[in-house]
Amino acid sequence: MDKNSKIYLAGHRGMVGSAILRQLSDAGYQNVVVRTHAELDLTDQAAVRRFLDSEKPDWVILAAAKVGGIHANNEYPAEFIYQNLMIEANVVHAAWLANCRKLLFLGSSCIYPKFAEQPMREEALLTGILESTNEPYAIAKIAGIKLCESYNRQYGVDYRSVMPTNLYGENDNFHLENSHVIPALIRKFHDAKLNNSPTVEVWGTGNAMREFLHVDDMAAACIHVMGLSEAEYKSCTEPMLSHLNVGTGMDVTIRELAETIGRVVGYQGEISWNTNKPDGTPRKLMDVSKLKSLGWQPKIGLEEGLSTTYQWFLAHQGQFKSH
Ligand SMILES: NC(=O)c1ccc[n+]([C@@H]2O[C@H](COP(=O)([O-])OP(=O)(O)OC[C@H]3O[C@@H](n4cnc5c(N)ncnc54)[C@H](OP(=O)(O)O)[C@@H]3O)[C@@H](O)[C@H]2O)c1
Repeated sequence: MDKNSKIYLAGHRGMVGSAILRQLSDAGYQNVVVRTHAELDLTDQAAVRRFLDSEKPDWVILAAAKVGGIHANNEYPAEFIYQNLMIEANVVHAAWLANCRKLLFLGSSCIYPKFAEQPMREEALLTGILESTNEPYAIAKIAGIKLCESYNRQYGVDYRSVMPTNLYGENDNFHLENSHVIPALIRKFHDAKLNNSPTVEVWGTGNAMREFLHVDDMAAACIHVMGLSEAEYKSCTEPMLSHLNVGTGMDVTIRELAETIGRVVGYQGEISWNTNKPDGTPRKLMDVSKLKSLGWQPKIGLEEGLSTTYQWFLAHQGQFKSH
């Protein structure tokens, strides 16, 4: 990738987008174009067309999406499917109309079937039923992959897709109801420490296994994938696929995760496991051998990543007090 390439980064204020923006800037990319949600609503087809037609970027990174945890996905399924489909369709089509040959689309590991063989390989896509709680979101993300794949096939462009595992880090969402497991637990343990609570309740048995990737590693993976030649990218994704998994390839139990967060936060009490609450899928792990073979590996260990995330939370907690 040329350092002078004009890159439009959609979603630059989000957790992933802000990490990508930091790394592009550190790496010397000077020509990055951004717009806030208020300045450009990506569900507005005409506005997206006008914007891309006037900017004519060399690369588009699509890190904008309607994102949330189980609760939000369950409560607002219409918003999750509608907004994500609109954002993807508008951005991919307008990029093509503006003669942009290069695009990176961010999906999610929830595209894979509920009972996919573990670790989940890229080939598992569309081989079984999806987890029902976030099916509308997953369907939209699958449509995003297929949009890129179809534009590549019909128009000969180079639109790539990366599927991250569970992410965490700076700029994560610490909302009490809408957050993912790591920010939710950091907040719980932090509050328990402040209140001298003897126990912290965590849902489930603690035996479920999950994979977590620090968002700075995710941003590095995105820039690595963008830097691959078209032939290198295709060598791992064609002829049957057009997406790449991004993760650590290693998982931990929720028990190990909770204990590590307790340690990082400095909580001295006990964890009580509420086994009346569901564990969810027993295991969800990505097979990341394709990306590894293309020369990328994560650098940030879980405890180190949790520690910097907690420091970030402490520095910004004022903004989470009310929700
Ligand atoms: N977080 C994870 O664990 C995770 C895991 C796997 C995949 N991913 C994927 O990574 C990508 C980025 O996720 P993230 O965690 O960074 O999400 P995020 O923190 O919620 O950021 C998403 C960004 O998109 C913007 N956005 C949403 N709707 C928009 C619209 N209609 N027009 C313009 N901007 C809009 C948001 O702006 P506003 O806040 O102003 O609305 C926000 O800045 C998504 O595609 C997601 O599916 C995330």
